[in-house]
Amino acid sequence: MGVEHLVTSGTFSLDGGTWDVDNNVWIVGNDSEVLVIDAAHSADKIASAIGDRRVVAVVCTHAHDDHVNQAPALADRFNAPILLNPAEAPLWDMTWPDRTPDGELTDGQVLSAGGVELRVIHTPGHSPGSSCLYAPELGVLFSGDTLFNGGPGATGRSYSSFDTIVESIKDKLFPLPDDTEVRTGHGDSTRIGAESPHLQEWLTRGN
Ligand SMILES: [Fe+2]
Repeated sequence: MGVEHLVTSGTFSLDGGTWDVDNNVWIVGNDSEVLVIDAAHSADKIASAIGDRRVVAVVCTHAHDDHVNQAPALADRFNAPILLNPAEAPLWDMTWPDRTPDGELTDGQVLSAGGVELRVIHTPGHSPGSSCLYAPELGVLFSGDTLFNGGPGATGRSYSSFDTIVESIKDKLFPLPDDTEVRTGHGDSTRIGAESPHLQEWLTRGN
């Protein structure tokens, strides 16, 4: 029972720009079933890490294309539902106009895979339906692009709001235990207690 980690590489496109990005893909569960968080860039690489285990769900922390570009491929391959907060629809439709997610992620919803429970926390700001997943028994938060090692996720592009992301982090993530390990959508992990002292700096810095 635990957390497996892959880094996959590709691009992120929005607002007419395209950037090279490395994404963290998280596989949570046990030897028989797992849940995938953010199916990015390489369905083959993710599928081979999953092996012959059952996939409970392909969870999308948000619908920027780098986080969802392999979600349908993996969902089809493992006969698993794609879960996404419905407020992400405008972003999802940019990448997958002919397909809708199979189910919703909502604040307070509890998902379970291989004996691991994950509570969904709706943390709008990076995008309207951005969601984090908190596994209390593992002491782990999967933060998507909401909270990184060094501060909040980017809010300079369409559908983002700096004030909203800071409010989400302050009100919904910083109350978690200080030693909660934060597994991010890109780059290094951090801990809640390593980020929370810097709130005022972020506000001063702004977006
Ligand atoms: Fe993003």
